[in-house]
Amino acid sequence: MGNEPARLRHRLLLAVAAAALVGIGGLIGIAANGGNKTKTVKVTTTAPTETGAVDPHVAAGAHDFVAFACDRCHGVQGRGGVSPVVPALSTAAQTLTPEELGSIINHGLGESSNPKQPYMPVWGAVISKMQVNDLVSYLRAGLPAVPTATSPAVPKQQGPVVEGSVLYQSYGCVNCHGPNGLGGVPNPQSPDKTIPPLTGQDFRKEFNTDAKIIAVIESGSVIGKAPIVSMPHWGGIIPDEQLKALVAYLKTLK
Ligand code: HEC
Ligand code: HEC
Repeated sequence: MGNEPARLRHRLLLAVAAAALVGIGGLIGIAANGGNKTKTVKVTTTAPTETGAVDPHVAAGAHDFVAFACDRCHGVQGRGGVSPVVPALSTAAQTLTPEELGSIINHGLGESSNPKQPYMPVWGAVISKMQVNDLVSYLRAGLPAVPTATSPAVPKQQGPVVEGSVLYQSYGCVNCHGPNGLGGVPNPQSPDKTIPPLTGQDFRKEFNTDAKIIAVIESGSVIGKAPIVSMPHWGGIIPDEQLKALVAYLKTLK
């Protein structure tokens, strides 16, 4: 019962998408055929079928795409539009080989020396081979919409701490800094051998003002080349108000 409106909305969306595809097909047909509408153009789509069946690897990749915050930089379903320096992924997904895509995810594309600009992070030390393969399957399938593979809604009017706790997940901070900012995620080639915690005395001593915490989130910290994982630059990606919420949340941790 409670699911009825959601299912109706889903049906409606499917209907709208189908209508759009028919529309596009029609236009291509017209263009290809000089206005003679007798020929049909076959449009194939990798989106979930009416029965909801999705290839398990594509589905896992879609969820990884959200869990590792690929969508926060590259846009929902890799459609771009977040920052002028972060490309949409549709072209790369079609033109690069699975090996090239896997290599970019593991090693990045070279960390940016400009701390005001995001770069493609290095994930190799924090992501499994299977997760990389699933991400590549998802990209190669054309980044289809997969039900529930979406970033959690940011709670409004519940205060910055609640907002920050959700953002800590949706920007994928948790993958590198661990639950509750406890750290300990291996980063074998880095000087400390692990990704630092965002809790504890050392952290609080070094990052003793909100401004210092915000500065390192925005500007990151390049501590070496891949396979060393560095702190990504989030400048231009995370809005000011969300940076403040993240800080409010971090300050509640042990
Ligand atoms: C902090 C922002 C950020 C995040 C998070 C991020 N990327 Fe990127 N990514 C970039 C930027 C910036 C580039 C362009 C780098 C360049 O061209 O030097 C890029 C480039 C790429 C490319 C190459 C695109 C092309 O046209 O050549 C692929 C593929 C890619 N990213 C996949 C991913 C995947 C998969 C994830 C999640 C595991 C991800 N990215 C997470 C910022 C990000
Ligand atoms: C790809 C892994 C990765 C992700 C994702 C990531 N970080 Fe980091 N972060 C690091 C690494 C590695 C360092 C250590 C950099 C250094 O030593 O210079 C770091 C450092 C930091 C620091 C400074 C702490 C210190 O002791 O140097 C803060 C604060 C921080 N990150 C917050 C965040 C927040 C908030 C997010 C999510 C928006 C986030 N990080 C996402 C890898 C990551």
